Amino acid sequence: MSRKVVHVITSHRQREGGGFIVRRPFPTRGFDHADPFLMLDEMGPIDYAPGEAVGAPDHPHRGFETVTYVLEGEVEHADSVGHRGKIGPGDVQWMTAGRGIVHAEMPSRAMQQRGGRVHGFQLWVNLPARDKLMAPRYQEIPKAKIPTATTPDGLATVHVIAGQALGVSAVIETRTPIAYQHWRFEAGAALDVPIPRDHTAYVYVFDGALSVAGRVLEAGQLAVLDEGDAVAFAASGKAQALLLSGVPIREPVVQYGPFVMNTQDEIEQAILDYRQGKLGAIDHRAEPARGQP
Ligand code: CO
Repeated sequence: MSRKVVHVITSHRQREGGGFIVRRPFPTRGFDHADPFLMLDEMGPIDYAPGEAVGAPDHPHRGFETVTYVLEGEVEHADSVGHRGKIGPGDVQWMTAGRGIVHAEMPSRAMQQRGGRVHGFQLWVNLPARDKLMAPRYQEIPKAKIPTATTPDGLATVHVIAGQALGVSAVIETRTPIAYQHWRFEAGAALDVPIPRDHTAYVYVFDGALSVAGRVLEAGQLAVLDEGDAVAFAASGKAQALLLSGVPIREPVVQYGPFVMNTQDEIEQAILDYRQGKLGAIDHRAEPARGQP
């Protein structure tokens, strides 16, 4: 049975972190989260002049996962458990904040100096109660290790970040069953993509226009799908979309900024732990000052 579109959401613009603008399909008024997902942000595409690029300086997270997928540009990451890395085009960082970390997500020093184009996504994935206080964990996967597959007619290609598509399986492990697929379509592409029946499913079109279950979505629109075991895609021109699906967690969600727990008491504990320094701090001593070569 093919899934239908029950709702189309046009994303709104929102200012985040150090002042960068994102396109955000959810949460939005009337659609506060997309269980098991909490938030989807599209960063850019935006061209920064030298000295203009901004990011998200030191901030905490507890109780969920942040998934960063870069299409263009370069993000430098540092955190309170001593992890440092660079995420470039096609790379994915799947960070399980669990009981808590403090991290910074900034454009690379080269991008801050020379400027350049930034385009990418940050998805927030909720954790079930049993995993909210797990030890923080990273899965940092370079582009070369993200499985990719193309349809026999060559008109649709998928990058499989989580779950399975076109016979290939992701290398990233998720705490609950999730699919995260980046699809690129050429004109004339038409195919049915299987989605496990017990998943909720969402399609975010971010480039071109795409027919999703017979309904044409423009870039910046999200389709909420109903039940079924597949979705039909058709493209009359070049288009790109994310397909997100997962088994809903169906637990209470209490959010206070970067903390997502099940109860208000747990949120108050998270704030207290953060204020008392229990989530740690980033050691900036090893870094040259910002703005220095
Ligand atoms: Co963050």
